[in-house]
Amino acid sequence: MRTPIIAGNWKMHKNVGEAVEMVRELDELVADSAVEVVICAPFTSLSALSALGLKKVKLGAQNMYYADQGAFTGEISASMLEDVGCEYVILGHSERREIFKEEDELINKKVLKALEVGLKPILCVGETLEQRKAGETEEIVVSQTTLGLKDVSAEQIEQVVVAYEPIWAIGTGETSNGEDANQVIASIREALAKLFGAELAGKVRIQYGGSVKPGNIKEFMDQPEIDGALVGGASLNVKDFVGIIKY
Ligand code: 13P
Repeated sequence: MRTPIIAGNWKMHKNVGEAVEMVRELDELVADSAVEVVICAPFTSLSALSALGLKKVKLGAQNMYYADQGAFTGEISASMLEDVGCEYVILGHSERREIFKEEDELINKKVLKALEVGLKPILCVGETLEQRKAGETEEIVVSQTTLGLKDVSAEQIEQVVVAYEPIWAIGTGETSNGEDANQVIASIREALAKLFGAELAGKVRIQYGGSVKPGNIKEFMDQPEIDGALVGGASLNVKDFVGIIKY
């Protein structure tokens, strides 16, 4: 049995005060939920959130660099994230791939470093609308999964979460339907089985992301291959995010 994981990706939203106020309330409201709940906040809020001593909500970051330390102006290391109480880190989000030109090789280095330090990567994969129209969806997500997880060991793979986020469904109100997302996610799991064997592949949690809301979460969570959601816009207010967590 895979424990469902619902993670909020706040992207570049909320100052420290706003973050603390929402997460304090969220932690109370979802305290008895059976699903794992994660908030991936901007770097600037992580220490303050960690200091709340949260009972239920776990913390994640939205990016990191793979070097241990050094002259990398503007970057944050895996151990710095660990130090401020992060358990998860989103890597390879499509906004990082598209806006900041991150490629699979770089994302793979980050995945390996996160695992080495004890952080759990949420590796994002997903196709553009053009790729979907060209019938390339499965090829793209399998390639991103395989390259992103290169040299990850059998001992480490259970720590990894994969998030399937079709780029055309992010922030657009367009969603993939449950069955379609389930099929793409099944192809990701097949790729994991080729790399790590079917048993370990069956233990890895794979989320769906892209315009997830309280009104459509169940359609995704009812699918056998979908183990949770990576939520953008609807994770920014407590009512919607609690509605998703309590699907
Ligand atoms: P939205 O839920 O706003 O579509 O964002 C999805 C996403 O990118 C989560 O990482």
